[in-house]
Amino acid sequence: MEKVTLGPMPYLSVMPTVLVGANVKGKANYMTVAWATVACMAPPMLCVAINKQRYTAIGIEENKTFSVNIPSAAQVIETDHCGLVSGTHKDKSTVFTSYYGKLKTAPLAKECPVNIECRLYNSVDCGSHLLYVGEIAEIHADKSVLTDGKPDVAKIAPIVYSQATYFGVGKELDKAFSAGKKYHSA
Ligand SMILES: Cc1cc2nc3c(=O)[nH]c(=O)nc-3n(C[C@H](O)[C@H](O)[C@H](O)COP(=O)(O)O)c2cc1C
Repeated sequence: MEKVTLGPMPYLSVMPTVLVGANVKGKANYMTVAWATVACMAPPMLCVAINKQRYTAIGIEENKTFSVNIPSAAQVIETDHCGLVSGTHKDKSTVFTSYYGKLKTAPLAKECPVNIECRLYNSVDCGSHLLYVGEIAEIHADKSVLTDGKPDVAKIAPIVYSQATYFGVGKELDKAFSAGKKYHSA
């Protein structure tokens, strides 16, 4: 394969599309985030990269809590709206129906099939963005997206983000932690 260099840029092949929720000045606000991943197993943690200009950052700093809501393909319009409009200029508290769980101050979007409550563990100032690391306090899931009590990606139908485009999840390729057993070195 012939390679060309593309220069340094914030790139990964695919990313998730989630909604980060935070209470800002007592009101729920949701922003779209693609720069998000799991950060630790024990204790369970995830992290989200939030630009310092975002209204959401004010709420995370204020309450030291935030939520990560996983929208399904059916919510692509509401999800993109939360990434186009800032809470600084427009109230986004009614885009989703908010409820609260264990942490009391992290708004959870009812219409999203999975809602994750996070307690702020740490933040890393990376430059334009703050990397917020959250300890997962609780996960709420619609019964309808579970198979044998576990979240089922086919039922959740999450939104995959890549290069300013939303995609659905593709077909299963093989089993992880198993496919590699077929490897035989020459
Ligand atoms: C698909 C998509 C992904 C985005 N990912 C991020 C992200 O990872 N981090 C970020 O700071 N902004 C991201 N944004 C931009 C924010 O969602 C956008 O600026 C939003 O209006 C911020 O809302 P707020 O000011 O109410 O917090 C993304 C926008 C879209 C449409």
